Amino acid sequence: MRLSFFFVPMLLLQYSIASLAMTTLSNLTTDQSTLLTFKARVVDYRSVLTNNWSISYPICTWIGISCGSRHQRVTALNLSDIGLGGTIPPHLGNLTVLVSLDVSLNNFHGRLPNELGRLRRLRFISFTLNKLSGSIPTWIGILSKLQMLSLRNNSFTGPIPNSLFNLSMLEMLKAKDNILDGNIPSRI
Ligand SMILES: *[C@@H]1O[C@H](CO)[C@@H](O)[C@H](O)[C@H]1NC(C)=O
Ligand SMILES: *[C@@H]1O[C@H](CO)[C@@H](O)[C@H](O)[C@H]1NC(C)=O
Ligand SMILES: *[C@@H]1O[C@H](CO)[C@@H](O)[C@H](O)[C@H]1NC(C)=O
Ligand SMILES: *[C@@H]1O[C@H](CO)[C@@H](O)[C@H](O)[C@H]1NC(C)=O
Ligand SMILES: *[C@@H]1O[C@H](CO)[C@@H](O)[C@H](O)[C@H]1NC(C)=O
Ligand SMILES: *[C@@H]1O[C@H](CO)[C@@H](O)[C@H](O)[C@H]1NC(C)=O
Repeated sequence: MRLSFFFVPMLLLQYSIASLAMTTLSNLTTDQSTLLTFKARVVDYRSVLTNNWSISYPICTWIGISCGSRHQRVTALNLSDIGLGGTIPPHLGNLTVLVSLDVSLNNFHGRLPNELGRLRRLRFISFTLNKLSGSIPTWIGILSKLQMLSLRNNSFTGPIPNSLFNLSMLEMLKAKDNILDGNIPSRI
């Protein structure tokens, strides 16, 4: 029994060190490599990113990028209507202080990567007008700060997961023009 008094503080200490390491590991430089990986993996039909997302220029001046003044990290990504395609790379899940993600009016297809469930600060998400498919992921329900979610005009199938009805800050959910079924709970 005595051992537990020793081990609990040790575990807490290890946990604090681990989370400290996690926060210091991510900075503007790691956000830059995340975005360069993103650029390398998507299709850039109009070459909008080709010369603009370049290490020759500060990342916060790149098209579609906004940085927060406090943390010096990427806080918003607005890539609306710039002619991108391919699948959404899981690497976006490394932009851990992202508040707003707008990839509307592009040609992204495939499933949403589970890694996006790490973006716990997201308040705004728009996937409007792409060709995204698969079920609407239940992990959207853990993004507790979410205020606006648009899945409009994609090829999502199946029901709206119950977890979404747990989002108490959610003011707007757009899900029109998909292949959804199921009901919206009456308590909503
Ligand atoms: C950012 O993080 C990387 C990897 O953790 C580190 O090597 C680098 O020195 C950091 N850069 C700044 C400006 O803090
Ligand atoms: C990249 O695009 C942004 C937004 O259009 C623009 O302000 C910036 O000057 C561009 N950078 C370069 C190097 O062209
Ligand atoms: C993204 O940019 C487009 C046009 O450039 C604008 O209409 C849209 O409101 C922006 N999205 C967000 C979340 O600010
Ligand atoms: C970013 O995310 C990818 C895929 O989720 C992962 O493999 C990679 O190790 C991450 N990179 C950093 C620097 O955290
Ligand atoms: C949805 O997208 C399809 C294909 O791009 C288009 O034909 C259709 O008009 C769009 N519907 C709406 C309501 O925007
Ligand atoms: C909703 O939130 C409660 C409390 O956090 C949790 O117990 C429950 O499993 C959640 N429901 C769904 C469907 O995620």
